[in-house]
Amino acid sequence: MTKTKPNSVVYPGFFDPITLGHLNIIERASQIYEQVIVAIAADSPKKSLITIEDRMRLVQDACSKFDNVAVEMFNGLLMRYVKSKPSHVILRGIRTVSDFEYEFQMSLANKKLESSIETVFMMTDAKYSFLSSTLIKEIARLNGNISEMVPEQVEKKMKEIFGYELTC
Ligand code: COA
Repeated sequence: MTKTKPNSVVYPGFFDPITLGHLNIIERASQIYEQVIVAIAADSPKKSLITIEDRMRLVQDACSKFDNVAVEMFNGLLMRYVKSKPSHVILRGIRTVSDFEYEFQMSLANKKLESSIETVFMMTDAKYSFLSSTLIKEIARLNGNISEMVPEQVEKKMKEIFGYELTC
C-alpha cells in the first residue's frame, strides 16, 4: 500500500513527440489529481528523433496552460524514479485493446520490482485512439498535415527536422 494518499501521479513516456492524445490524458489527470508529473524517459531502446532537451521543452510548452502539471526528466528504471516521489502512483493511457496486454505486462513487472507502486489506467479519448508518436513522425516525414494531432510547437519542430513546410 502507498504510505500517502495518491494526490499526485506520475505520467511517464518518451514523448517523441508529445501528441494531442498524450495531452488529453494529462489534462484529464490534472482535473483528478492535485499534481501531475509528466516524466520524460531519457534512456530509450529505440533511437529518438527529438533530443531529450527538445522533448522537455516541447512537453513544457504544451503543459504550460495547466498550473498543477510539472515536467521532469528521468534516467534508468521508472520504479526508482517514482519511488523518489511523494506519491507512488503511475498513470498510463490505454488507446486500444492491443495496448492492454503490453501495459498489463509492464505494470506487473513494475509491481515485481517495487510492490508499493500502483499503476492506474485512463482510456484515451476515442478521437485520439489512432494516434502514436511513430505515426506522427511518418506523416510529418512525408509532408502530411499533423496540425490536428500535435501541439503547434511540435508541428513547428517537425517542420524544422524534416526541412519543409508542412501542408496537407
Ligand atoms: N495518445 C497518443 N499516443 C499515445 C498515447 C496517447 N494517449 N499513449 C501512448 N501513446 C503512444 C506513444 O505515442 C508511443 O508511440 P510509439 O510507440 O509510436 O512511439 C507509444 O504509445 C508508447 O508510448 P510511450 O509512453 O511513449 O512509451 P512506452 O509505452 O514504450 O513506455 C516508458 C515508456 C518510459 C514508460 C517505459 O519504457 C519505461 O518505464 N522506461 C524506463 C525503463 C524501465 O523502467 N523499464 C522497465 C519497465 S517495466
